[in-house]
Amino acid sequence: MRILKNNFSINKKELIKINSSLRKMIKKGAFINGPLVKKFEKNFSQKNRAKYCVGFSSSSTAISSVVNILNKKKKEILIPAFSPIPVAASLKNYNLNIRYLDVDKETFLLKSNLQNEIDSKTGIIMLVHLFGNVFDINSLKKKISSKINIIEDSSQAHFSKINNKYVGSNSFASIFSFYPTKNLFAYGDAGCVTTNNQNFAKKLRAYRNYGLHPSIDKLLNFGNNFRMDEFQAMILSMNLKKIFRFNALRSKINDYYKYHLSDLPIQFQKIEKNVKSNNHVFSIVVDSKYRNRLNKFLMNSGIGTSIYYQKLLPSFTDELTETKLKKNFPNAFSLSKSIINLPIHPSLSLKELDYICKKIRIFFKND
Ligand SMILES: Cc1ncc(COP(=O)(O)O)c(C=O)c1O
Repeated sequence: MRILKNNFSINKKELIKINSSLRKMIKKGAFINGPLVKKFEKNFSQKNRAKYCVGFSSSSTAISSVVNILNKKKKEILIPAFSPIPVAASLKNYNLNIRYLDVDKETFLLKSNLQNEIDSKTGIIMLVHLFGNVFDINSLKKKISSKINIIEDSSQAHFSKINNKYVGSNSFASIFSFYPTKNLFAYGDAGCVTTNNQNFAKKLRAYRNYGLHPSIDKLLNFGNNFRMDEFQAMILSMNLKKIFRFNALRSKINDYYKYHLSDLPIQFQKIEKNVKSNNHVFSIVVDSKYRNRLNKFLMNSGIGTSIYYQKLLPSFTDELTETKLKKNFPNAFSLSKSIINLPIHPSLSLKELDYICKKIRIFFKND
């Protein structure tokens, strides 16, 4: 059996719809940041219950825009060491001062006593809602000065909930990626920012379009070309209609794995009671002595696993040695050596799930 990491299926009706929208788009000659982007922004903000949504060419360009507009170059931005490379790259490329923090070994998110890490240099905190789990931004807000900006990287948490509210619905700036492997995906690169601040939304709209004022020939702020394509916006509006169904399927797969693997020497990501994860990634944490062998065994059995993240962010940007990483970021370091992600795309069949669980059981039985 061969089980893919991701599976992109499309039905005939959707193909016909794409074809007809594409014809209209070409006829109109509107390819970038046009009516379909506007329509998606409206659709997404309505569904997500945020006041404003601003489309971008990717989450990376959206992150860069948000932090550049906040303009805290002399200060530090705090981010988790256990995150994907674009989280650091989109800041480093703009010479921002990054301070990495260790994560909680159970939730894989920044630690809940994060306020203890704040000092006079702290300008921005970027929470990363990893694998669909959600950091409690409201409880953090109560503990820190309002001069510190808290922003959210929700690239992996579309329609995850905390205290019954969608991620990004109640935030100054929440950044989403629509990269093809995400829960809500485009057929290429795309991203967005949701915000409840009208003035900030206006600045973002200008920033993604070189910094230009929307109607007159004037610069609002220096910006870049970070606009969303019409084609991607059209695909996103189409996929947005399926997001709740897809997230519900992921939730069932998550439950299936947990039910069938819970007696094995495996740890699952801890999701607090007030959080409903969108199950973007299903990870298992095993003793590091098993990790590479188990991963190889699963791959040789035709199962599309992945490992997020073998290299911690400080080892890319600050070239820290293993000894330093282990000392400064013990939990992140341990996760990087013991985690494996199993397939969780919505089109996984029961037969495939059963096969994956059986293979994992065989591995531990034979060890
Ligand atoms: C948490 C997080 N932030 C940022 C990104 C970057 O997204 P994009 O590829 O849309 O720039 C990703 C995608 O991998 C991500 O998972």
